[in-house]
Amino acid sequence: MVEINQEEKYINNNSSMQITEGEEATKEQKVQNSPVNKIKITDTTLRDAHQSLLATRMTTEEMIPICESLDRVGYYSMEVWGGATFDSCMRYLNEDPWERLRILRKKLPHTKLQMLLRGQNLLGYKHYPDDVLTEFIKRVVGNGIDIIRIFDALNDLKNVEKAFEVTKKAGAQVQGAICYTISPVHTIELFVQLAKEMESMGADSLCIKDMAGLISPYDAYELVKKIKEVVSIPLQLHTHSTSGMGIMAYLKAIEAGVDVIDTAISSLAFQTSQPPVEPIVAALKGRKEDPGFDLKLLSEISAYFKRVRANHKDMESNIDNIDTNILTYQIPGGMLSNLSYQLRQQKMEEKYEDIIKEIPKVREDLGYPPLVTPTSQIVGSQAVFNVVTGKPYGIISEEVKKYLRGYYGRPPAPVSKQLLEKAGIKPEDIIQGRPADKLEPMMEKAKKEIGFLAEDIEDVLSYALFPQVAREFLKKKAAKRYRIGMEILKGQHNYEEIGYPI
Ligand code: CO
Repeated sequence: MVEINQEEKYINNNSSMQITEGEEATKEQKVQNSPVNKIKITDTTLRDAHQSLLATRMTTEEMIPICESLDRVGYYSMEVWGGATFDSCMRYLNEDPWERLRILRKKLPHTKLQMLLRGQNLLGYKHYPDDVLTEFIKRVVGNGIDIIRIFDALNDLKNVEKAFEVTKKAGAQVQGAICYTISPVHTIELFVQLAKEMESMGADSLCIKDMAGLISPYDAYELVKKIKEVVSIPLQLHTHSTSGMGIMAYLKAIEAGVDVIDTAISSLAFQTSQPPVEPIVAALKGRKEDPGFDLKLLSEISAYFKRVRANHKDMESNIDNIDTNILTYQIPGGMLSNLSYQLRQQKMEEKYEDIIKEIPKVREDLGYPPLVTPTSQIVGSQAVFNVVTGKPYGIISEEVKKYLRGYYGRPPAPVSKQLLEKAGIKPEDIIQGRPADKLEPMMEKAKKEIGFLAEDIEDVLSYALFPQVAREFLKKKAAKRYRIGMEILKGQHNYEEIGYPI
């Protein structure tokens, strides 16, 4: 049944791709049948774009009225869920992230939906045990996600293994994502090797995930060419406009034969967001790569999101159009805006430049992790400690110690020996193998802990991922459900702890 639905969706979504609907073609044949050079486009407006520009504050209410138009564009897929949206729904918007997914699925019937998953970290900041991961992915697919883009912050493939396996079993497409970064160890050869390994692990497609917008047009060209030479699955490029090179990188990647690119609608594009879709469509007009989108329709959609963006003016950080720090220090835009916000709050703005210079040093000491959640936070906060205390590693954060012990996986390069010594970590303290193997199952415990506040297994998962945030959110949800005042749920009776296992 699931299979048939997937097939139907595939045919619907690709009606423009010269595939006869009745044809009994396998997925592979379909890929081959599609016009080789016609570029496919994933729209990120409902996920990465507002995560990058508006601190993930777009509400489901704001998304609904435009879905019908978005569904008509002809996007290959839309990234609508995952990343920070899950946390943000509960924490800031008093929205059920699962409900958002179900609504979007219903409102976007002709477009494949995709999400971003942080490997074994799911949508959180630490590793979760396999029972949580398995249930989570099953529910995600059951609620309508077609493609899961899976990455590990260190590109440690042990940390994506289980997510690959469960996603495939659940009937969704696995998109293996390689975190792109620049360092002495991150060579083209390394990325090509990772691509090959991900393909052999069963990925249905691959993504070069350039979360910081670092990739130069010529590097994009070379990387796409070299990966396409050795893998047979489709390749997607994801970048941000932060450095100003995004559109150029896409154009060169298209020349090199990339299959899919990620764009946002222009009113929510540029700066730390994705490059805009409209100029790419216009540039390719009439060529074999032309995606054939209706520019008028896109401009209506853009006008709509311009109004949505205005609703969240207070969330816009005062970022420049082009961030030249990214070119010098390779620091992602989101990390820079977080840092300047935190320093402003603590009245330490004058340390900004020093911290920016410290980040690459910490990154080197930690074996050049790509800067993406959660490594960006680990590196960033240690750099702040180093500068503020005036003594490098005078204080070593707990996260850095955990990182050094291997609890996030294997760093791309060996970590600094002096740092290991300073942290008092001996080689035998460093765990080998898959970090999640060290974790106890969590689902039963989570069910008991959240008790009657969880209406279904999705609520339990929300709690397992974000205990405090989800508990507060679920209280409000329960109050609404039972039409009782919040005061009862806040009363002396600790209902949550007594709970009813479900
Ligand atoms: Co991104």
